[in-house]
Amino acid sequence: MSDLKEHLAERCQLVDAALNRFIPDAATRPTNLHQAMRHSVFAGGKRLRPILCLTAAEACGGAVNDAIPNACAVECLHTYSLIHDDLPCMDDDDMRRGVPTCHKVYGEAMALLAGDALQALAFELVTKTPMTTNHPAAVMVLELARTAGSLHLVGGQVADLEGEGKKLPLEDLRFIHEGKTAALLTTSVKLGAMSANASMEQLQALHDFGMATGLAFQIIDDILDVTQTSEKLGKSAGKDVASEKSTYPALMGLEASREEARRLTEVSHRALDIFGDASARLRQLSDYLLNRDY
Ligand code: IPE
Ligand code: IPE
Ligand code: MG
Ligand code: MG
Ligand code: MG
Repeated sequence: MSDLKEHLAERCQLVDAALNRFIPDAATRPTNLHQAMRHSVFAGGKRLRPILCLTAAEACGGAVNDAIPNACAVECLHTYSLIHDDLPCMDDDDMRRGVPTCHKVYGEAMALLAGDALQALAFELVTKTPMTTNHPAAVMVLELARTAGSLHLVGGQVADLEGEGKKLPLEDLRFIHEGKTAALLTTSVKLGAMSANASMEQLQALHDFGMATGLAFQIIDDILDVTQTSEKLGKSAGKDVASEKSTYPALMGLEASREEARRLTEVSHRALDIFGDASARLRQLSDYLLNRDY
């Protein structure tokens, strides 16, 4: 295996080049809309979800190229969720991925619509995956739709907003984090696996891996919000305390939150046992997500 940093940089380039082909160029009408979509997508996200998607496809014996449409789909859906998350009616943030948020540059209406268009594009991209025998396009669209909808991502965002100013029980906080974040990480690895014609046993293992890694990922996001600077994160730090959000550090303190993220990362590794050596890169990625500092 090549060095992880180098590998991540190569994968980012691959994903960015594909996104650039899939998203209408900035001169296409309505130009403001396409510029707003491109502003947020190409501001420099870590591309963790598409990278997880490609890596899961490889773990299942698939080709990276076949997983590219699904990888771009999850990044488009994720970027839409960030644009809307930053709106004044939600978390009200001015900075994202190191640049001013979409609504700061293009206005609220255009940011809302850029998010809408990116979400629609995500579903279109899933249908560009080459056909496999086990997972027809409709099944992959269903996977993404369930994750995007009221029972997961949107539902988690609602519960997150409704939890402001309250000290929620841990069970409720876990529901929020699994919905708003872990579900899409899970779908990212599953859509990669589906493009590789994965077996049901492989999909179940990746489901368990994704849920554990995804929950750990949001716990670390909560920790970084408290411990890092806005410059390092590329988004405003300290926002969760300011908005009285329910977070793991608020509920159990920093050290216990770190311990919980470590425990979940171990759970995620165990879920991969059926893959043997083929999952080495996925394990390396979940460790990287645990130890990241932005
Ligand atoms: C931020 O996700 C939003 C969460 C779900 C915690 P990332 O930390 O992956 O953000 P980007 O894509 O790198 O900007
Ligand atoms: C965002 O969670 C989750 C989604 C966008 C679905 P946060 O509100 O914690 O994400 P950041 O910290 O703004 O990136
Ligand atoms: Mg939020
Ligand atoms: Mg936010
Ligand atoms: Mg956060």
